[in-house]
Amino acid sequence: MQRLAGRIAVVTGALGGIGLATARRLTAEGATVVLADLAEPEEGRRYADELDGLYLKADVTDEETVEALFRTAHDTYGTVDIAFNNAGISPPEDDSILQTGLDTWKRVQETNLTSVYLCCKHVIPYMRAQEKGSIINTASFVARMGAATSQISYTASKGGVLAMTRELGVQFAREGIRVNALSPGPVNTPLLRELFAEDPERAARRLVHAPMGRFAEADEIAAAVAFLASDDASYITAAEFLVDGGITGAYVTPL
Ligand SMILES: NC(=O)c1ccc[n+]([C@@H]2O[C@H](COP(=O)([O-])OP(=O)(O)OC[C@H]3O[C@@H](n4cnc5c(N)ncnc54)[C@H](O)[C@@H]3O)[C@@H](O)[C@H]2O)c1
Repeated sequence: MQRLAGRIAVVTGALGGIGLATARRLTAEGATVVLADLAEPEEGRRYADELDGLYLKADVTDEETVEALFRTAHDTYGTVDIAFNNAGISPPEDDSILQTGLDTWKRVQETNLTSVYLCCKHVIPYMRAQEKGSIINTASFVARMGAATSQISYTASKGGVLAMTRELGVQFAREGIRVNALSPGPVNTPLLRELFAEDPERAARRLVHAPMGRFAEADEIAAAVAFLASDDASYITAAEFLVDGGITGAYVTPL
């Protein structure tokens, strides 16, 4: 499928599990991808070369950097058609509200929520000028469901991403810009695998809630991003697109 032929996409958190799988998928569907992450240029360039795209070292919590990221993408390729605002962190210090300090709270809000505000703020002018664009902001199923194993700032930040996305989707709907939130369920990443190898009970406690009895693969999230980015999703905006294997719909799961 070449649904994204000729489109220019910016992906933040592009060297992570979901980001890299998505950069690869968007490229496979014909897009040219600008990859943005914290790694040094030499490391990032390896992936950009593989995909015939561009790597930019960019901390998405910094406004000047974000402005320069979208400006460089636009100056290099002439348009910015797709923005996948995906960078995020979930550090172990972000825990119960009773333990989580203000510094940790702020760091997670800056990385997960303020970054999405900055990326939307600096990409929308390009999309308005071309009267077309698709923005996909990564939220999470935890914005929908309460967990006793709390990550209080992470959860609140993803709730913010959902609300902000809805508002932007509505505000810019008549200007050809679609803005959607993608809410993955738990994804089978190296971090998750390591964590659960150390503590199988922790994995079992979560898997019991997953109707399919497994976590998502990053490619399955990437496929949803490619759909939302494409004209196949032309009537989808201001939506929360859940890719959670049914977790948020479940009460009792199969044995
Ligand atoms: N993995 C899951 O189970 C899961 C579930 C729901 C939502 N999510 C969300 O999906 C997104 C991607 O997660 P992932 O699983 O691929 O994680 P990951 O840790 O593999 O990737 C995240 C990437 O973001 C980058 N990053 C962090 N801070 C940054 C900053 N300030 N500027 C630029 N880049 C920065 C990291 O370097 C990393 O490459 C995140 O927003 C995460 O919250 C993940």
